[in-house]
Amino acid sequence: MSVLYKQVGIKDVTFGEQVVVVEPVNLYGCSIGDGSFIGPFVEIQKGVTIGKGCRIQSHSFICELVSIGDSCFIAHGVMFVNDLFASGGPAGGDATKWKSTRLGNHVSVGSHATLLPVSICDHVVIGAGAVVTRDITQPGIYAGNPARLLRSLPESTVDSATSL
Ligand SMILES: CC(C)(COP(=O)(O)OP(=O)(O)OC[C@H]1O[C@@H](n2cnc3c(N)ncnc32)[C@H](O)[C@@H]1OP(=O)(O)O)[C@@H](O)C(=O)NCCC(=O)NCCS
Repeated sequence: MSVLYKQVGIKDVTFGEQVVVVEPVNLYGCSIGDGSFIGPFVEIQKGVTIGKGCRIQSHSFICELVSIGDSCFIAHGVMFVNDLFASGGPAGGDATKWKSTRLGNHVSVGSHATLLPVSICDHVVIGAGAVVTRDITQPGIYAGNPARLLRSLPESTVDSATSL
């Protein structure tokens, strides 16, 4: 029997000021901004950038080619996707087939949501269990599979969040 054991850990991570990480986590080659929180059992892959004042709750997976802005909340068990299996199966590590995801600022993603490679503007809420399949360009609350706009956010919410 031959088994290769690899250990989770924190490797080559750029941390801002006053970041809190609750181990065990698997963080490598990524960048975490000032005042952000990373809960336990989170994996963040190389090249990912997380902005300032974010909260990444336990059991979330953030893959390569993801960038997250400032003041974002990623709830428990949120899954990001960069490989759409577009050629009939996994890209097998061929990063040229992966696609990127970008979250703006003040984006809150509910528990167990899945984000396919998309771009999401500032001031968006994604409902629990949603599957986001298309870019979101208007602030608001989105839910369901595929995620659709449930309702807009009050102007005051968007304005006050912007001024934080
Ligand atoms: C999406 C969300 C923000 C909507 O909240 P809301 O605006 O108060 O919505 P309501 O509860 O009034 O529901 C409105 C409609 O959307 C539906 N809905 C609400 N949340 C939904 C969700 N996550 N997925 C699918 N449908 C949802 C409701 O069933 C309701 O449908 P109906 O009009 O046919 O009855 C909220 O339900 C949600 O999922 N929040 C995520 C919370 C979370 O994960 N927190 C993590 C904490 S650690």
